[in-house]
Amino acid sequence: MSRANLDKDPHEVAAMFDGVAGGYDRANSFMTFGFDRRWRTTTARALDASPGERVLDLAAGTGVSTAEYARGGAWCLAADFSLGMLRSGKHRGVPMVAADALHLPFADESFDAATITFGIRNFVDTKAALVEIARVVKPGGRLVICEVSTPPFPPIRFLYRRFILRAMTLVGRFSSTNPEAYSYLAESMAAWPDQRTLAQTIASAGWRSVEWMNLTFGVVAIHRAIKPPLDSEA
Ligand SMILES: C[S@@+](CC[C@H](N)C(=O)[O-])C[C@H]1O[C@@H](n2cnc3c(N)ncnc32)[C@H](O)[C@@H]1O
Repeated sequence: MSRANLDKDPHEVAAMFDGVAGGYDRANSFMTFGFDRRWRTTTARALDASPGERVLDLAAGTGVSTAEYARGGAWCLAADFSLGMLRSGKHRGVPMVAADALHLPFADESFDAATITFGIRNFVDTKAALVEIARVVKPGGRLVICEVSTPPFPPIRFLYRRFILRAMTLVGRFSSTNPEAYSYLAESMAAWPDQRTLAQTIASAGWRSVEWMNLTFGVVAIHRAIKPPLDSEA
């Protein structure tokens, strides 16, 4: 079975997600004790997609979040480089496309907003992907990222690092077709930068008005940013 390393080779990452695609949604809900549902609805509120808007849900996996964002009437496209993950979400009926976040197959300024839920920490080059996403979003358009993060309160951070990540690996072993993949997911969570560092990377990729909001004691954070409008000063 395929397991990516923290150097995040895109072929290995895609093959690994192909391998877990069948049981992914179930395992995810199991490992997050059902909190993923609440995190997705809060992300949908932060995205605030309205009817007529075009939204790119990148690293969309099975399209579970894409379906949530489309509920309000926006046209939402699920893009992911794992065909296995996309196929597993076919029943959701959302439009899907195979695409690598670092080389998006879209024209400049094609979308009103772009969003990534639990995907960005798998990208081989975070800043390059954020620059590429800015290319396909219209000036003034939004970026919303929901990702695991660092609980700011030390006792919670201690518990999270010592126990929850280890528990996740164990739970993954029982609930997934590829336990090795779940060790990678836990390791990539532990290695992921904190809220402020991610905000700085987003800003360095050309996005403005970067802000974040902690969910569930900061175990997860939503970052939001705007692509500078055309008339703004650089
Ligand atoms: C943890 S899953 C999250 C899926 C979904 N967004 C969710 O919230 O359940 C991460 C997804 O990111 C995708 N991914 C990772 N790197 C990618 C890249 N460079 N381009 C496109 N998709 C990528 C993987 O294939 C996988 O489906």
